[in-house]
Amino acid sequence: MEKEIHKENRFIPHLADYKKTCHGFRWEAVGKELALDSGKLNIAIKAIDQHTGSWRKNKVALYWEGARGRGSNQPEADMRSGRNFTFAELSTESNRIGNMLLNLGVRRGDRVFVFLPRIPELYTSIIAIAKIGAVAGPMFSAFGPEAIRDRLLDSGARVLITHASLRERIHQVWDELPELKHVVVVGDRDRLWKGEVSFEREVEKSSRELEVEDMDLEDPLYILYTSGTTGKPKGVVHVCHDMVSHYITTKLVLDLREEDVYWCTADPGWVTGTVYGIWGPWLNGCSQVTFEGRFDAEHWYSIIEHYGVTVWYTAPTALRMLMKAGPEVVKKYNLKGLRYILSVGEPLNPEVIRWGLEVFGLCIHDTWWQTETGAIMIANYPSMPVRPGSMGKPFPGTEAAIIDNKGNKLPPGTRGILALKPGWPSMMRALWGDEKRYKEYFTIPGWYTTGDTAYMDNEGYFWFIGRADDVIMTAGHRVGPFEVESALVEHRAVAESGVIGKPDPERGEIIKAFIVLRHGFKPSKELEEDIKEFIKHRLSAHAYPREIQFMDGIPKTRSGKIMRRLLKARELGLPEGDLSTLED
Ligand code: WTA
Repeated sequence: MEKEIHKENRFIPHLADYKKTCHGFRWEAVGKELALDSGKLNIAIKAIDQHTGSWRKNKVALYWEGARGRGSNQPEADMRSGRNFTFAELSTESNRIGNMLLNLGVRRGDRVFVFLPRIPELYTSIIAIAKIGAVAGPMFSAFGPEAIRDRLLDSGARVLITHASLRERIHQVWDELPELKHVVVVGDRDRLWKGEVSFEREVEKSSRELEVEDMDLEDPLYILYTSGTTGKPKGVVHVCHDMVSHYITTKLVLDLREEDVYWCTADPGWVTGTVYGIWGPWLNGCSQVTFEGRFDAEHWYSIIEHYGVTVWYTAPTALRMLMKAGPEVVKKYNLKGLRYILSVGEPLNPEVIRWGLEVFGLCIHDTWWQTETGAIMIANYPSMPVRPGSMGKPFPGTEAAIIDNKGNKLPPGTRGILALKPGWPSMMRALWGDEKRYKEYFTIPGWYTTGDTAYMDNEGYFWFIGRADDVIMTAGHRVGPFEVESALVEHRAVAESGVIGKPDPERGEIIKAFIVLRHGFKPSKELEEDIKEFIKHRLSAHAYPREIQFMDGIPKTRSGKIMRRLLKARELGLPEGDLSTLED
């Protein structure tokens, strides 16, 4: 093991003593702290409206920076393309959007999906959907028509809010979506396409006063689709009770406080962006930054400097890319305001932690969780020494364990299934319309199984080993091999395909596809490029295979299942394991 890091904090952490906090922790007490029993119950009241009754009314809730951003070598005046929103502004804007949705016939419990770039309307729409008691479905703006269709169809979404620059992808599949009544388009008042509604025009007409719905804790709040080994993406259903976990994990793990400027780099189309890029920080009354644009080392550093970011939640791939950009770029910016950095989504290499110590003078803190858990479950806390490479310890009030397939707890140092004791507030409540797959998480009595393998050391730190299934984590994004395989076979040249995650020093894993071509097609560089483009556009830009290998046949079991395990073992030159089920 690497040496433990004991780094002095420049602040007194909210969670000062891990053991003590665990000992005295009660979820009910957190509910009291949030005043769940007084007044109407709605996450948007707790996160937004409530603050308008205090001095926070005029506090900036959202610093939004547009994709054009602030070019680094232009004078400051020309560089800005952004806008700030106070809590009061977010409150009124979301009221108007809420009224627009009501006018369109949306009712409590209806699904409203949001397919937008990271522009202010994305944030105000999600708040508005919560206000009227509808269920939000955020979608990543890189999704192609196929990914969109699967999600809208499965959830029976009634309304979709999108942007003019993305609308074409919707129109390609709208006629396959009988339940989708309205497509609301941001960014085009006058040249609407058939059937569309203009966001701006409708919002302008709508009242600033809104009767916010009084919810029950168990009412659904949002659905996020995520991937497993088999089948199409599953709609993970989260409920209003999640706000208890959002609030307290943000406070104790991200250690956010009044004076912080916080930046979560994730898109709300992924769970980190919804929970810690919207709700958690605002439940704590905190100012947050969001950047519409893509990764760019220089631009990212300039954001930290310009807004005076103090707490920063990002992902290992981004950190590795910053590391690659070199030390000269960092030196151009004043990053002294940063006080705390966290990471999630993939293993955080000790090497990155060492780099962070050098460049920022701060220890990067790893956190572990999943779309299904709805909040951080295992983390490194500011008051606890960091063991580089470890995900940390379970969040107070939750029990994590390493178990065997009968549910027995395994002793420290033994690898096994990473499992959690059900009962924390933000645990998913269902997979939309799929009871069977939901139950698969609970086949070991008494436990929720995560699909990850890990071990715990003598001091109770958890160490990630890998996925127990074929799920791919690429650049922090979760991709199911089946989705990619099914999109691949829609290409005219592809007869069969098998998809695996291949270890990659920068992205954690990249997607590699093994492809058998249809009769009459020959392997070529051009065909390879054509297939990659096809997946980028049909499925999603983050889910295309960066590597393709043409083969004569794909190894399958006798029952016809693709043996991805074998493809992977062969790719990595590892032992092939049990081949008794391999078809002849
Ligand atoms: C992986 C993301 C190693 C893990 C919030 C998990 C991690 C999956 C870590 C969930 C970490 C998440 N170290 N692996 N700190 N955090 N993972 O649903 O395999 O997109 O099961 O949620 O990401 O991915 P999801």
